[in-house]
Amino acid sequence: MELNNEVLTAIRERRSTRKFTERQIAPEQLDAMLNAAIWAPSGGNNQSWLFTAIQRKDILLRLNELVREGFARWTPDDDYPGKLAAKEHSQADSFNFYYHAPTLIIASNKPNYQNAMADCALAMENIFLAAQSLRLASCYINQIFWLRHDEPLREYLDELGIPREHVIRASAAIGFAAVPSHTPARKDGTINIIR
Ligand SMILES: Cc1cc2nc3c(=O)[nH]c(=O)nc-3n(C[C@H](O)[C@H](O)[C@H](O)COP(=O)(O)O)c2cc1C
Repeated sequence: MELNNEVLTAIRERRSTRKFTERQIAPEQLDAMLNAAIWAPSGGNNQSWLFTAIQRKDILLRLNELVREGFARWTPDDDYPGKLAAKEHSQADSFNFYYHAPTLIIASNKPNYQNAMADCALAMENIFLAAQSLRLASCYINQIFWLRHDEPLREYLDELGIPREHVIRASAAIGFAAVPSHTPARKDGTINIIR
């Protein structure tokens, strides 16, 4: 028998949303997600992360322009197939890396700390599950991680209060879904139990 409870249901029903309405989330919803983030585990209890939530449309649109310009000068650093497509796509007029979500949460962390990405990724999942529990939509957004060394983008992040020595690790688009998300099937053969 498959066990079920609120947490397991939220895990199963969370989907990546790529079409958001313009409606902003409530302040207490943002607080709940940021609190969920900081309660994630961290290596050695470092908690050296910073979560920066942006809800101002002019700032988000400026970030989008910087991401577009950053992609134009960017050369993918590995052969992950999505990277070249994202670079190409970024030059289209319709490009918006956070899918016009009204809230973007950026996770940054210390450099030269091996668990920086793991800590931020665990916090991201807490944000996604908290969002799901509040009936909000979310999506993991990688573009500003890919462009983490882009100088003009980095200078703008300075203005947003993200410490210069911090490296961008991940971001989360949050809002209300404009359309229901497709559920990608889970692959077989990815669980191995030894009893
Ligand atoms: C590390 C990571 C990076 C991701 N980056 C992006 C991204 O930049 N843009 C996007 O639309 N989705 C991104 N996703 C979402 C995945 O595409 C999505 O989780 C996957 O297709 C499975 O769909 P589901 O989240 O609805 O289960 C990312 C997910 C992860 C874990």
